[in-house]
Amino acid sequence: MLGRLNHVAIAVPNLAAASAQYRTMLGAEVTEPQVLPEHGVTVVFILLPNTKIELLEPLDETSPVAPFLARNPSGGMHHVCYEVEDILAARDHLRQQGARILGDGEPKIGAHNKPVLFLHPKDFNGTLIELEQV
Ligand code: CO
Repeated sequence: MLGRLNHVAIAVPNLAAASAQYRTMLGAEVTEPQVLPEHGVTVVFILLPNTKIELLEPLDETSPVAPFLARNPSGGMHHVCYEVEDILAARDHLRQQGARILGDGEPKIGAHNKPVLFLHPKDFNGTLIELEQV
């Protein structure tokens, strides 16, 4: 069911500073900031030869990422995103296996204009998993 690793996401307290650090200190290609109101975050992507790193900054204190940053004020690894070919089939399969889908269980449009879902971290070894249909 799982395809490629699409990205690893890191929550950051200051997106501009983190982007600048990746650009200048690490010499990486960083995309322009993208505001995703439905997800409560602003994101940039670090483009690597084999995958991407997503840097996430909460839009405000109601963001789903805000509690994570409150617990991890200097930032930290937030989720991994795996590609799937059919997100509804993947969701139904996971539900049958007893896994919990976050939110209302309906895919939202993610940063790449593709449908995404998040799986409960308690069902996956403490790791928040994003599925993206490609
Ligand atoms: Co993501």
